[in-house]
Amino acid sequence: MTSSPAPQAASVPVPFRPGLEGVPATQSAICDIDGIRGLLTYRGYPLEQLAANSTFLETAYLLIWGELPTIFQLRDFEQEVQMHRRVSFRIRDMMKCFPAGGHPMDALQASAASLGLFYSRRALDDPQYVFDAVVRLIAKIPTMVAAFQLIRKGQDPIQPRDDLAYSANFLYMLTEREPDPIAARIFDRCLILHAEHSLNASTFSARVTASTLTDPYAVVASAVGTLAGPLHGGANEDVLEMLEEIGTVDAVESWLDQAIKARKKIMGFGHREYKVKDPRAVILQKLAEDLFLRFGHDAMYDVARRLEEVAADRLGPKGIYPNVDFYSGLVYRKLGIPRDLFTPIFAIARTAGWLAHWREQLGANRIYRPTQIYTGSGERAWLPLESRPAVV
Ligand code: ACO
Repeated sequence: MTSSPAPQAASVPVPFRPGLEGVPATQSAICDIDGIRGLLTYRGYPLEQLAANSTFLETAYLLIWGELPTIFQLRDFEQEVQMHRRVSFRIRDMMKCFPAGGHPMDALQASAASLGLFYSRRALDDPQYVFDAVVRLIAKIPTMVAAFQLIRKGQDPIQPRDDLAYSANFLYMLTEREPDPIAARIFDRCLILHAEHSLNASTFSARVTASTLTDPYAVVASAVGTLAGPLHGGANEDVLEMLEEIGTVDAVESWLDQAIKARKKIMGFGHREYKVKDPRAVILQKLAEDLFLRFGHDAMYDVARRLEEVAADRLGPKGIYPNVDFYSGLVYRKLGIPRDLFTPIFAIARTAGWLAHWREQLGANRIYRPTQIYTGSGERAWLPLESRPAVV
């Protein structure tokens, strides 16, 4: 006689960690963070070296395919991306129906998702499908960000220019002017700095979505939605607002003391992984200084410097220092980029990281399905409407 196996326990008794803090949710070979020493590497290469010597497309290739490209691989990748920059007129027409006052991150999420209507085959085991999807997303996301900027001003989007490299072309599509080469290079370096950062909220979101074997356009769209929140990518917009609210260097100290007293979060400060200054903030601060030297000073930078100085005293002992969002807004502002495009620009860069994680997830996939600790009511009998007690 055979007996049926005993039912498995529904949940494993592991301690509950809010926000999954410190809980490994995947294995990954893409990016490594040393939050105590303030070090960040992409595929083993220190971020500082990539930001100094690489281009964004070369870095994206490294992240997604695992190795720095040869000269031929890079040329091919650049050409493919250049060939796929244009976006279907149907998507542009759809964007014209979006409310002009809507947030560009919402416009980007909707347009990224709409790419799936055109290109979805879900042939996830076909290397050509995977390559084409990577190229399309890297190529078209900037075009869609720039298109919405012009559309909401009542203009037609302008076509990409084949003679311009990735970042210069984006700035051209956005501002309708060919950018200064130094400004374009600084912008490209900003994209490198934002391209990847291990299992942050949007990347986790991308991996969860990827684990269902849906198409990569849905993966990127879900990550864009997650990046939009003020505790994640959206903080860079808030930093400028905060600096403007403070107003002057002299007002910094009392403003910060009041904010701490009111238990306010200081935007652009703090990070789950870093207990020192975020290495990306260190590089961004230098990029901001380079920009100010060339194009003129920004008084808000002095307010930011003073805030960092005073906050080191007040928040430093808790391991709270500037994160990537603290100086990026000042850089983008100097480049003439509207504030609500800061996070979509973050998304342009992070698409590289999301796609790297998409590929890695598919390489050893298991659908994400964590458990929970139920805290609701015990079993109850349904009551007819007339018998239900009034809710006070
Ligand atoms: N200002 C003041 N206090 C802070 C800040 C901050 N920016 N960040 C954390 N703290 C304090 C908290 O109040 C808390 O103090 P307590 O223990 O006395 O209550 C302690 O530090 C721990 O804070 P948590 O919010 O629990 O830390 P967590 O790791 O969950 O949060 C986060 C990280 C969300 C980034 C947080 O630091 C924050 O909200 N920062 C401001 C928003 C921001 O800049 N986000 C961008 C992050 S980078 C990115 O996503 C690209």
